[in-house]
Amino acid sequence: MNYPISYAADFGQRDPAPGVDALFVERWSPRALRKVEIPAADLRTIFDAARWSPSCYNEQPWRFVTSTPASFATFLDLLVEANQGWARNAAVLGFVFSDKKFARNGSDNALAVFDSGAAWMAMTLQARKLGLYTHGMAGIAWDRAHAALGMDPEQYALCAGFAIGVLDAPETLPEPARAMERPSPRRPLAEIWRQVG
Ligand SMILES: Cc1cc2nc3c(=O)[nH]c(=O)nc-3n(C[C@H](O)[C@H](O)[C@H](O)COP(=O)(O)O)c2cc1C
Repeated sequence: MNYPISYAADFGQRDPAPGVDALFVERWSPRALRKVEIPAADLRTIFDAARWSPSCYNEQPWRFVTSTPASFATFLDLLVEANQGWARNAAVLGFVFSDKKFARNGSDNALAVFDSGAAWMAMTLQARKLGLYTHGMAGIAWDRAHAALGMDPEQYALCAGFAIGVLDAPETLPEPARAMERPSPRRPLAEIWRQVG
C-alpha cells in the first residue's frame, strides 16, 4: 500500500559518512502518527523480514506480539501514560519478547535479547521500506504485559514495546513533544568505533 507522506522531515542534525544508505539515516522514531489501517500483507512482510535475522545457534529467540484493531485498547493500556498520549494514533502496537532458553538443550541463552534486538531492527527497516515508521518503547507495563498477552514469564523475557504507524505532521502533537519531533543527532563515529592495532 502507498502510505500518505505528510511532510519532509529535517535530517539536518544527522551527519552520515559518505555511502551510508538512506534507509539507516532516514529511520527515526516519530510520535506524530496518523491512524491508518495497515493491510495484513504489509504486516506479514514486516515481521517476515525479522525472521531472516541472525542469531546465536540460529535459535531465533525473538517473538513479536502485536495488536489488531479489536485488541488495540488492551495493548495501549500496557503503555505508560506519556507513551499512550501519542501511541494511541499508531496503526499497530506490539511487544518484543525473547525466549530465554535454547531449544536445543534447555540451557540459558545469554544472547537472546541481543538477537531479538537485531530482529527488531530488521522489522523496523522493512517497515521504512514500505513507507511506515516504528517507535520503540521502554515505557511499558513491565509487570503486566506477560499476563495480558499470554506469555509465560518463565520462558520469555520482555524486551520492549513498539508502535508501527504512518507519519503525521508535528503540529498534531502537544508541546513538549512537538518541539522534539525531528530526527535526532548521534555520537561521533570515533566515540563508538576504534580499530585496535
Ligand atoms: C528500546 C527502546 C525504548 C524506547 N523507549 C521509548 C519510550 O518509552 N518512549 C518514547 O517516546 N521513545 C522511546 N524510544 C525512542 C528513542 O528515544 C529513540 O529511538 C532515540 O532517541 C533515537 O531517536 P530516533 O529513533 O528518532 O533515531 C525508545 C527506543 C528504543 C529503541
